[in-house]
Amino acid sequence: MGIMDKHAILERNATLLLVGSLAVVAVGGIVEIAPLFYLENTIEKVEGMRPYSPLELQGRNIYVREGCYVCHSQMIRPFRDEVERYGHYSLAAESMYDHPFQWGSKRTGPDLARVGDRYSNEWHVQHLIEPRSVVPESVMPSYAFLANTPLETPLALVQLPWFAGWVWFALMAWLTFLAALVLVVQGRFDTADRAIGVVGEGETPQ
Ligand code: HEC
Repeated sequence: MGIMDKHAILERNATLLLVGSLAVVAVGGIVEIAPLFYLENTIEKVEGMRPYSPLELQGRNIYVREGCYVCHSQMIRPFRDEVERYGHYSLAAESMYDHPFQWGSKRTGPDLARVGDRYSNEWHVQHLIEPRSVVPESVMPSYAFLANTPLETPLALVQLPWFAGWVWFALMAWLTFLAALVLVVQGRFDTADRAIGVVGEGETPQ
């Protein structure tokens, strides 16, 4: 009986099959994940990367909300034509604070990863109000309404003190404890045990 004939042993024993599968997946996982702990440069560091300011986040939210990504990407690919047109190709670390990232492959308009320094603020305002007033052949829609749409402040941007998470955690843990206590006091766990047959009718649970 060759080794290949023995697969029936694995297939008939669910536990063995589970352990075997886990072992195989673990090998794959270790091969992929372990090197990441040793590679110094898995993600290159980029000078000056910092989390977005609240105002920048608001702008990013508008970008996502208005679907600017439908026509624009924020990832310069490492191709000569793109690098010559837009500047140094994008590095992974440059998107580390972008959730979700805005890479995209739909490029009706130019890539915007390094558009920041290219024009003045006035140009951008004018371009958003009426793209064709600065780029006559543009097909980009006008976003003039943004100029008089007040910013909403989502709850996620409200600054909470550092211990807020711990207070929330403690509150939830306390409530869970109280709920369990009530169940124990009312003897509900016993009823459940009876219902699933762990404890028989008339028996006292241990
Ligand atoms: C229907 C597709 C489309 C959508 C949606 C769109 N754009 Fe554009 N965008 C373009 C095109 C085409 C150009 C190139 C012509 C021009 O400069 O107007 C462009 C150009 C730009 C430029 C100048 C880029 C450069 O390098 O010259 C900026 C900045 C820009 N868009 C921002 C935005 C923002 C912000 C949004 C969302 C609020 C947006 N776009 C939505 C198509 C679009």
